[in-house]
Amino acid sequence: MTRAEIVEKYRKYLYGVSTYYKEPLPFVRGEGKWLQDADGRRYLDFFGGIVTVALGHCEPRVVAALEKQARTLQHVSTLFPTIPIGELAEKLAEIFPGDKPAKSFFTNSGTEAIETAILTARVHTQRTEVVALRHGYHGRTMLSMSLTAHSGWRLGGVHDGSIRHAMAPYCYRCPLGLKPESCGTACAQDVEEVIKTTTSGRPAAYIAEPIMGVGGFITPPKDYFPTVAEIVRRYDALFIADEVQTGWGRTGRKWFGIEQYGVKPDIIVAAKSLGNGHPIGATVARAAIADSFKGSTIATFGGNPVTMAVARTVVDIIEKDRLADNAAVVGGHLRARLDGLAEKHPAMGEVRGMGLMQGVELVKDRKSKEPAPQAAAAVLESAKDHGLIIGKGGLYGNVLRISPPLTVTTEDADQAADVLDKAFGEAAKA
Ligand SMILES: Cc1ncc(COP(=O)(O)O)c(C=O)c1O
Repeated sequence: MTRAEIVEKYRKYLYGVSTYYKEPLPFVRGEGKWLQDADGRRYLDFFGGIVTVALGHCEPRVVAALEKQARTLQHVSTLFPTIPIGELAEKLAEIFPGDKPAKSFFTNSGTEAIETAILTARVHTQRTEVVALRHGYHGRTMLSMSLTAHSGWRLGGVHDGSIRHAMAPYCYRCPLGLKPESCGTACAQDVEEVIKTTTSGRPAAYIAEPIMGVGGFITPPKDYFPTVAEIVRRYDALFIADEVQTGWGRTGRKWFGIEQYGVKPDIIVAAKSLGNGHPIGATVARAAIADSFKGSTIATFGGNPVTMAVARTVVDIIEKDRLADNAAVVGGHLRARLDGLAEKHPAMGEVRGMGLMQGVELVKDRKSKEPAPQAAAAVLESAKDHGLIIGKGGLYGNVLRISPPLTVTTEDADQAADVLDKAFGEAAKA
């Protein structure tokens, strides 16, 4: 099929989808960090299918595990124990960042895993209210859109009235107009203010992304989560870490983003990289919480043997190939290169993130910090023309999101930074 034919079908027969770039870019093949478009052109993939392709495209060991399991047993549902579901759950219990023992519930997407986490918290605590964060993103069901606090991603309005939103730890645009050096992490205290003033004082849970992905890789200061965790515990609520983007070594050295803050969550939510592109959602909870989840609930495809075998292989590869360490090393190199570019390109208002999750917030000028969404779109377009795929996000659409496979090298990071250098130059002239 030609490029035009692929795009025509996409436009004619799909709805609710949006694409990057002036002209949609159809891909036909992926191999490691490379993508190939319908005209045979190759691109270095520094977005990984929205922070998902942790091991690179079509990783041979993952493909082999998939093929083997698909030939052995494809589906029976969770009504019947299988080898792959037990093996993955055992591994997740081992690396769970909260107090052990831990147990898992598997679904097919991050959204479903979020639903499961909130349901688990509500069933366990016998409470309903949940505190989430402004600028956060948690999915596309009625509940997860209500948790999301990003107007563009709340299609159809708010549906769950028991959710409250505290201020985001967004230091570059502090909602309180304070400076990180002297603010006393006032945004963390806002969680208590929200509990005291907008809930019954008995919330079921607090949920947050350790780095706010769709929100534009907003990276909370180090003392934010420890302060919040203390408040949440004081109100006997559960701490839920949404690790859908930050999990699986992406932030460097540790399995999970929340570990960078030294906080032990009660429940974590995972998806994306866990399947390296295969649909999966996992909710992992302290066993004491998980065990109070009684009553009927089922996800027909949750725990599907093929997906479970894939995910177990993904986790094993991340561990064996020490990819979390690689994320720290190459991420550090990439960050240094981006910081260097920021000295040269005034549109780069802030570079932030951890490991191989780096964001660049673009502004019209550094003093006013006025968001520059057009510049972000121009950089994205120009990077693509030079063979580099990156993502975009943020409430104002002005943040570049850089999240390559965890397998990339410092040479790859240099190549990406060189392209971005050119792209910033071209965007400034446009
Ligand atoms: C932090 C976070 N939570 C939840 C979700 C929802 O995951 P999914 O799109 O797999 O349903 C996403 C998706 O981008 C996400 O970034």
